[in-house]
This record gives sequence, C-alpha cells and structure tokens, in this order.
Amino acid sequence: MQQECFVTGGSGFIGQHLVASLTREGHPVSLLLRAPQALSALAAQVDGLGGNATLLSAVAGDLGSPGLGLDGAARARLEQAAVVFHLGAQFAWGLSIEQARKVNVEGALAVAELAASQGSRLVMVGGYMLANREHLARIGIDLHKPQRTDWARVYRRTGGYEGSKLEAHFRVLARLRELRAAWTLVHPATVCGHSRSGHILPTQPLAGLIANLAAGRLSAIPGSPAHWLPLVSVDFLAQLLRVAAVDPALAGQEVLALDASTPNLQGMLQQLATALGVSAPRRHMPLPVLRWLLKIPGAPGLLHSESESLDFIQTTRFDTAATQAVARRHQLVWPDIAQALQATAHYLAAQQRPRGKAGAG
Ligand SMILES: NC(=O)c1ccc[n+]([C@@H]2O[C@H](COP(=O)([O-])OP(=O)(O)OC[C@H]3O[C@@H](n4cnc5c(N)ncnc54)[C@H](OP(=O)(O)O)[C@@H]3O)[C@@H](O)[C@H]2O)c1
Repeated sequence: MQQECFVTGGSGFIGQHLVASLTREGHPVSLLLRAPQALSALAAQVDGLGGNATLLSAVAGDLGSPGLGLDGAARARLEQAAVVFHLGAQFAWGLSIEQARKVNVEGALAVAELAASQGSRLVMVGGYMLANREHLARIGIDLHKPQRTDWARVYRRTGGYEGSKLEAHFRVLARLRELRAAWTLVHPATVCGHSRSGHILPTQPLAGLIANLAAGRLSAIPGSPAHWLPLVSVDFLAQLLRVAAVDPALAGQEVLALDASTPNLQGMLQQLATALGVSAPRRHMPLPVLRWLLKIPGAPGLLHSESESLDFIQTTRFDTAATQAVARRHQLVWPDIAQALQATAHYLAAQQRPRGKAGAG
C-alpha cells in the first residue's frame, strides 16, 4: 500500500536519497522546505537519483520557528501523512548552543508532537553515538534518568551539533512515550556516498575528509590502529529508513545503521588514497594530541579540521545483528563498503575536474 509521507530535511543529503527511494516505491511525499521555491531543482535531483518527482509536493516551514512555521492549510495537508520522517537538522561544526538547540532539539520536539497529534508514525534519524552507552556515560549523560542530565556540561564536551542531537534523542523519546506515540529511531554511522554512483554532497563530513586527503592536507592518521570511523552507504540507509516505517517489528525500536565491515581508519584512508591516486598517511597521531593542537587559535583552519569531528573516530565496535535481521526480512542488499568508498572518492574527484575534462584520467 502506498502511504502518504511527510519528510523534514528532504533537501539534504540523506533526505534526497530517502525521497528518491520513497517515490520510486510510489509513496506520495510532502516536504517541509524553508525555501519552497527550491522544489523544482530538488525534483530534478530526485529524478536524477532514480525517484519519481511527480509524487513530490512542498509545504513552507522552518524547524526553528514556533509551530514549525506551518500555516493552517499546510497542517491540514500533513494530517494525511501515515509516516513522518524527521531528518532536518542544523548539521555543522562550531554551532552555538542556542542555534543548535532551537532547530535540533525544539524543532525535533515539535515534529514529534505533530506526528503524535495526527497519529502518524515518526521515523527519526539520530546518530550512532547513541548506541555507545559507555561514551554517553563518559560525557555525562544520566542513562537511568536522562532528564537529570546536566546538558550544559554535555554541550561543553561535545559542541553544539552533537550535544543537540543527543539532547533531542532523549527528550523526544520521553515525549513520545508520554504521548504513547508510534515511533522508530534510526541511528546512522557517518554516511558514505551512494555505493554505485558515489553521489555525496560536498558539505558532508566524509566529503571533507576526502578533500583533505586529495589535497595532501592529511599528514597523519588520527588515533591508533584500533580507531575507525564507522560508515553506512546512503543508498542502504535510505532503504532502511523506508522499511523502518512499515515494519511492525520495528515499532518502538531503535535501529543502528552501521556497516560493521568498515575498515579501520588507516585501511579506509588507504582505500580512498588508492582511488584518488594520492599517497595515504602512514603515521598515527594520538587523538588527545590532535585535540590539543586544534585548540591553538587558527589551527582548525590550518589543519582543515575541527575538534568536534574527532569524537566520531572511535575504538568501540557495535553489534549489528538486529539490523542485519531487518535487512534480511526486507531483502535489502547491504552494499560492499569498499566499493562505496571507491565510488565516493571517484565521484568527488570528478566534481573537482574542470568542466569538459570529465573523462580525462
Ligand atoms: N550525514 C551523516 O554522516 C549523518 C550521520 C548520522 C546522523 N545524521 C543525521 O541525519 C540527518 C540528515 O543529515 P544530512 O547529512 O542529510 O544533513 P544535511 O545534508 O546537512 O541536510 C540537513 C537538512 O536539514 C534541513 N534543515 C536545516 N535547518 C532547517 C530548519 N531550520 N528548518 C527546516 N529544515 C532545516 C536542511 O534544509 P535546507 O536545504 O533548507 O538547508 C536539509 O534539508 C540529520 O539529522 C543528521 O544529524 C547524519
């Protein structure tokens, strides 16, 4: 059955692929857009990604505005939605706490309340750090009574973006339980480009890392040989989000979207460097040293890196058996992550080439 869907963050990287996947399967999709006039460009992009843009429509709104900035007509239209996918977020390093909380926490609460009030199932995107309980406890989150967490302290440790994603998760979850709403939370690892086309937006953290590697700005491997940056390819994630909305077994569940076969950081940089035809760094630099260096005024600019991004490089390994079971149940093929990395590197390298030389070696 084709279900009406409402998507926030549909113009973003994951959102574009989700919308392509939903419309390819025949689901009509309404998008929350800050700039609804951008719908025609987005529609062309969705068609290019294999979706069906004739099923797209937009409502004007803003996660940072009271009531999501929706007018009465938009609210009436969204009542048809069987599923609300919440992906919209201010996704950047160096955000102020106020800025991050307004959109990522208050906005997420407003979306959750909207979904609950109209009986839609909420599928909300969190992040894989939420599956690392030792890390959460270490940064000061009270896992038994999250409402007792000193969030200001957490934000000081993590920065605005990650702090707001963590706070949003715990506050939205508490609110959904209070409202007895229907929900599924999906926690992606760092998102890699499409496993075949390599499509990725240049604003993505992985694209930034690849740009640094391509430009020879990465002289050392952050962390130790035990460190990795877990990945998930965007096409697999989009399909997982789509099936999470209809799978009865996933109601009230959290799903980890992470490819456990991602190589360690050293192996990943080596694979990317080979694809780009550059040399990979060989020496390791301990994360505390790197964090200390990045505190020097001007260093983030010189090193083309932000301390906040280092938190995602970890030694923890995750149990993905439940996600693998979801994939089997829905016949989702888990793409080869080495192939996805290679495709992403090639895609970004092609974007850098001057026009007219796309085929040049
Ligand atoms: N990419 C990753 O590696 C990764 C990993 C784990 C979790 N996530 C989470 O996945 C979600 C999507 O990430 P992404 O990588 O697709 O991010 P993205 O490309 O930066 O897209 C963000 C989306 O949020 C929208 N947005 C931002 N502020 C808004 C506001 N005030 N009102 C309405 N919409 C607003 C943007 O709309 P505009 O077009 O108007 O800017 C855009 O559509 C986020 O919740 C992120 O935290 C991402």
